[in-house]
Amino acid sequence: MRTVHVQTAEPYDVYIGADLLSECGQIINKAAGGSKAMIVSDSNVAPLYLEKVVKSMEAAGYECVSKVINAGEEHKNFATLVDIVETAAAERLSRKDIMVALGGGVVGDITGFAAAVYMRGIGYVQLPTTVLAAVDSSVGGKTAVDLPMGKNLAGAFYQPKAVICDYDCFDTLPDRDRNSGYAEVIKYAMIRGTEIFDMLDGPVENLIAKCITIKAVIVSEDEHESGVRQLLNFGHTIGHALEQNSGYTMLHGEAVARGMVYACELAEAKGKLAEGTKKTLIDALLRYNLDVDGAFDAEAIEGYMRNDKKAGGDKVNFVMPERIGACTVERMDIGEIVGVINELHNC
Ligand SMILES: NC(=O)c1ccc[n+]([C@@H]2O[C@H](COP(=O)([O-])OP(=O)(O)OC[C@H]3O[C@@H](n4cnc5c(N)ncnc54)[C@H](O)[C@@H]3O)[C@@H](O)[C@H]2O)c1
Repeated sequence: MRTVHVQTAEPYDVYIGADLLSECGQIINKAAGGSKAMIVSDSNVAPLYLEKVVKSMEAAGYECVSKVINAGEEHKNFATLVDIVETAAAERLSRKDIMVALGGGVVGDITGFAAAVYMRGIGYVQLPTTVLAAVDSSVGGKTAVDLPMGKNLAGAFYQPKAVICDYDCFDTLPDRDRNSGYAEVIKYAMIRGTEIFDMLDGPVENLIAKCITIKAVIVSEDEHESGVRQLLNFGHTIGHALEQNSGYTMLHGEAVARGMVYACELAEAKGKLAEGTKKTLIDALLRYNLDVDGAFDAEAIEGYMRNDKKAGGDKVNFVMPERIGACTVERMDIGEIVGVINELHNC
């Protein structure tokens, strides 16, 4: 088992190992305390892992209740959030009790938000079951739900008490979801960790620990995203717009993959991208069957970008790649971003 420490205002540890769900109860008890736990999971993950988690938590002395939400990004909304919070109240969860998010990024984001608002904040723990949640969304305390106007538009910064990543869970992931998670792995390689490209074929424990360590350093330095944390949004400004424009038929990582390629093309057009950078990115994405090309609906994407929470007026903080392992944040005109990519793809 590996442990990565996250030094935020309220620090916590990320535990990475095989079969950790079987012993999560003890780790959770030590990190978060409480006597009652509400385990939130989704309709795909609960049948696979809920029983194991409940067993381990009960053995550690917890009284457990569970809440299973419908799987899918389209359910990461206020209706589901209200349902979770009302269930917590009906089950009489107290301020000293905890919520446990068992699932991918959708379950993690919405449970974290529910924990942030229920009784003005109770403790919660993340048990990520997807590659994406393991390397990215479970760490850093960004919690949210989507609004019809845009992704993650309502949420809170709220750190978990612990993150327990049992990578055996990846065995049951559908290929498409596993591949989508690797887009975020490759994102880390592009912003900070060139060596990640060489780790892709090695032990998954090392790969997750490397990604989480990069995220932990960045988040510890800039918990509320006023500076360096913005680098983690590489590929996301356009990616979020593509994801929404697809009506969420495109997975988060699939959209981010395309967003990263477009960001490279933009940097190339501005003469800012070192030679070979785009090819290295594309080669890595193709290993995971991630689409690197495709139609670009300029009008729709421009609209979604204007609704992005990182936008202000006509401008957005855009993560511009320079070379592998190095990106900068630039204040850019949304019209210019869309115009350049539209010209490249629709001429
Ligand atoms: N908070 C953050 O910092 C942050 C960062 C990146 C992404 N996100 C968010 O994360 C979400 C995407 O996360 P995701 O890709 O994990 O999606 P997800 O939670 O929808 O999970 C993907 C699919 O896999 C299923 N699943 C999960 N674990 C499984 C397992 N072990 N076996 C079988 N099926 C399993 C789920 O039910 C779902 O159908 C998006 O909402 C995105 O906005 C948040």
